[in-house]
Amino acid sequence: MRHHFTEADFQIYHEPVSLPRNWQGQAEAPSNIALIKYWGKKGEQIPMNASLSFTLSQSKTITKAEATLLKKKAPAVRFRFYFEGKRNEKFEDKIKTFFKRIEPYAPYLKQFEWTFHSENTFPHSSGIASSASGFAALAKIIMQLEQHLFPGLNRDYAAYKTSFLARLGSGSASRSTGSGIQVWGEHPEIPGSNDLYSVDFPFPVHENFRHMHDWIFLLDTGVKTVSSTKGHALIDRHPFKEARIQSVQQHLKSLSVAIQKGDYDTFGEIIEREALTLHALMMTSRPAYILMKPQTLEVIQTLWDFRRQTNARIYFTLDAGANLHLIFPSSEQENARKFTGSFEKITVIKDQIL
Ligand code: DP6
Repeated sequence: MRHHFTEADFQIYHEPVSLPRNWQGQAEAPSNIALIKYWGKKGEQIPMNASLSFTLSQSKTITKAEATLLKKKAPAVRFRFYFEGKRNEKFEDKIKTFFKRIEPYAPYLKQFEWTFHSENTFPHSSGIASSASGFAALAKIIMQLEQHLFPGLNRDYAAYKTSFLARLGSGSASRSTGSGIQVWGEHPEIPGSNDLYSVDFPFPVHENFRHMHDWIFLLDTGVKTVSSTKGHALIDRHPFKEARIQSVQQHLKSLSVAIQKGDYDTFGEIIEREALTLHALMMTSRPAYILMKPQTLEVIQTLWDFRRQTNARIYFTLDAGANLHLIFPSSEQENARKFTGSFEKITVIKDQIL
């Protein structure tokens, strides 16, 4: 049996021997796209089901931190957060909640006064989730400081604690501290998987899935009408909750087998079913809501027609918004270019899996 770290393992019980007067850190973290969706939670950032994602490589958050030692430990972490040069109070509120949640695991943060400067490599109004890459970058900075204060940390401990901390900022962020294919949430068929942090997909990945692309069609750049956090809460008393738990468990199992075997058609069928299930859950929540836009449906319908006509093997997924992600291997790049060419007016962000 593999060893899992527990919450107690990540807790810090003693003060560091010495504290620097000034400290600087910098980290970057990529965004990720879930193929098996995290939707619904139990307790504090514990997922209702296991999820699986591809880590992107171009869409990143880059964050710099400066810390100055305080004369006396503050009662709560003192910080300011600047996003793309401007102080951002909305982010500060979210980060405040995050700092409160991680207090037992990073009490040393309160010894300093912090300034963070953060930016994204993708357009910030694009509607691409930035909370995943944002919290993953912050968690990396915190663990850089922890390594500095407690030298010689075990490598696995440091890597998993980074994901663990990121999860307490935003669930999907737990999958943005590593690379490749990530699994977060306990699943009986995925050794090592657990609810507290994300792990690398533990099986050999078939050659067919080693060079994957994600082209993001920006179909709505406005603010979401219902945030993911509110969406998760609506699953609690959702009439389809039990059916969702069972089917998503099956989806992850079949997707895992498809990735190992190189079964591209099963892979495509499952990721599209997952995306549509996510949106179906929103449409059947109380209150109901719809995040897709007419253009989302148009692109899906056109893609299905295109696949029938050309035998192209390009599939889509959706996040909790209107944008559509085209997922395909390098061998399908020409088809993807042809397909994208029919939507001249749409901005497409081209990314690859890290
Ligand atoms: C649909 O991670 O944004 O993108 O934990 O409340 O911050 P919080 O939610 P968040 O939810 C992401 C939901 C999703 C699916 C996924 O990424 O797995």
